[in-house]
Amino acid sequence: MDKQHAKDKIKKLSDKLNKYSHLYYVKNEPAIADSEFDKLILELKKLENQYPEFITKDSPTQRIGAKIQSRFNKVRHAKKMLSLQAAHNREDTLAFDKRNREKLQVTELEYAAEPKLDGLSIELRYEDGIFIQGSTRGDGSMGEDITTNLKTVRSIPLELNKKEIKHLVVRGEVVMFIKDFNHLNKENTVSNLQTFANPRNAAAGSLRQLDASVTASRKLQSFIYEVIEVSDKKPKTQKDVLDFLKECGFKVNSETKLLNNIDKAIEYHDIMEKKRDKIDYEIDGVVIKVNNLEYHDVMGQRSTSPRWAVAYKFEPRKEMTVIEDIVTQVGRMGTLTPVALLKPVEVGGVTVSRATLHNMDEIKRKDIKIHDKVKIQRAGDVIPQVVSVDKQARSGKEKDFIMPKKCPACNSLVVHEDVYYFCTGGIACRAQIKEGIKHFASKDALDIAGLSDKTVELFYEKGLVKSIPEIFNLTKDDLLKLPGWKEKSSNNLINAIKESKKTNLSRFIFSLGIRHVGKHLAEILAGEYKNIDILKKATKEELININEVGPKVAESIHDFFKSKNSLHMLEDLFKAGIIMKNEAKAGPLQGLTFLFTGTLLRYSRSEAQRKVKDLGGKVTDSISDKVNYLVAGENPGSKLNKAKKKSSIKIINEAQFSSLL
Ligand code: IVH
Repeated sequence: MDKQHAKDKIKKLSDKLNKYSHLYYVKNEPAIADSEFDKLILELKKLENQYPEFITKDSPTQRIGAKIQSRFNKVRHAKKMLSLQAAHNREDTLAFDKRNREKLQVTELEYAAEPKLDGLSIELRYEDGIFIQGSTRGDGSMGEDITTNLKTVRSIPLELNKKEIKHLVVRGEVVMFIKDFNHLNKENTVSNLQTFANPRNAAAGSLRQLDASVTASRKLQSFIYEVIEVSDKKPKTQKDVLDFLKECGFKVNSETKLLNNIDKAIEYHDIMEKKRDKIDYEIDGVVIKVNNLEYHDVMGQRSTSPRWAVAYKFEPRKEMTVIEDIVTQVGRMGTLTPVALLKPVEVGGVTVSRATLHNMDEIKRKDIKIHDKVKIQRAGDVIPQVVSVDKQARSGKEKDFIMPKKCPACNSLVVHEDVYYFCTGGIACRAQIKEGIKHFASKDALDIAGLSDKTVELFYEKGLVKSIPEIFNLTKDDLLKLPGWKEKSSNNLINAIKESKKTNLSRFIFSLGIRHVGKHLAEILAGEYKNIDILKKATKEELININEVGPKVAESIHDFFKSKNSLHMLEDLFKAGIIMKNEAKAGPLQGLTFLFTGTLLRYSRSEAQRKVKDLGGKVTDSISDKVNYLVAGENPGSKLNKAKKKSSIKIINEAQFSSLL
């Protein structure tokens, strides 16, 4: 075959396969047999291997995603990704409509309503009709670049049908169908791999794979519902948006309806709630959007949600089952949490066999006993809960749950403060150690992809990782000896561990698992102290002087860095090669302290604070002589008046703050 001939053939095959893919994945209208499709793909792959110079960006072979990444890059969103305000009943929804009509001065408003998908939001960017970049929501302003993974999602077009569009940014949701979720969990159980609690977690776990071939092996679906930027004429209504997206080749939700007024939208909610069990994927409500997009601009947004839409939520799904036993789970800090082991029950297609009982107070308040018949509820990705006990069904054989006197994991004494029970084993408690390792590897800490909770359990039981620093001693040979660990998965994990050593101060502080130091506080500490050595030496008094740090937190931080065990652990971690970019950078705002009051429109409060810190500035929560700038947003609080009395404080509005940045 000569070159030109090969080029033509590759183009023809690509187009044909893309057409079949679209029919299958977007329109649900398969046109050829799977075996036929596979044959064509194989033919194309062979040709592309021979003539790699003719591989196009939208070739269906590019969906397979062979690239293994070590970490996801950060992507700034075209516009902030917002959340939706929730309505829990008819009244909330009617109030939403009333506010809208008053603001717009109209008597009736048309709405476009669609299912609220319980999945992961994504942003997709196309340039010259080609899919260029896809990202997760992240913190709303910055997401993670998961382009390679999204290319494996068949319903996301690699090339738009409307190729003439120069620039397009859209948003939507990735979900896993319930049947595919159940199938995946079954497979993972057989292979002794981690199972997922619900389809949303499964979709998230599948999309955040550093090895895109794993994503490719999972069945993920996409639904697109928003146009953020377009070089063409912008659609005028939400209905036009969906039609336009459909024409471009995206999958849009077929349950979407245009409704004349709010009563019709409420009716739609009620119909969808009844229908939800017949739908292939999880929905937890309906989103009601003002159909006319010109109105959206008039209505604007709050700090984290638009005023033109509301998520009218469904009641969480409930089922009856029996508590077969109550066990205790030991957390990272040694807290004992009672957990109900349930007779497995299907709740909206997902099998539930455990429910958290929170603490002894909850058990007493709801009068929960072992063998009770109970009503449980499951809402999205929240851990299933016991709602109430069917006391009529009691036979007299029910037993009270008694908190153990000794820790079930390490046999140390259990003590209690109020309704909270703790194991006193500390670092001698295997459960606390394992939870500490899981926390250290988790997403907001060192983010070691592939070191899942189940893997930590396995490594601990096999004696490979008995403490946090031992993570860094793992070798590929260690992994290859374990059941189910192959060359590729072992390489991936070893690489992820190596990559995780390059971290930043706030992640590192969070990863240490200091009592009361969550993600937010870790960021504050990282902003205050230039490196861990300075933080290590901080006195209690010094710590208390930091905003948001109270005496209890200061004591806990101080105690942590006084403990020999912690210091040994830190020493071992640094020996293993942990390095940190210092968060408190020198920057143009160095030496300046900012205070915020009121609501900012373009940024969330924490985002604005982050920006100041990124540029070397400091942030505080109260008026003092140290404050240089007060940024006053909408509806400022009393801080504004206090600041006016201090001539040293410069008061600026959001626009001035923005230009300062
Ligand atoms: S429209 C907020 N439509 O729910 C800007 N969002 O809880 C307008 N979501 O961030 C979003 N299904 O990721 C819209 N049919 C739907 C949706 C939907 C799910 C997500 C979305 C949003 C989140 C808010």
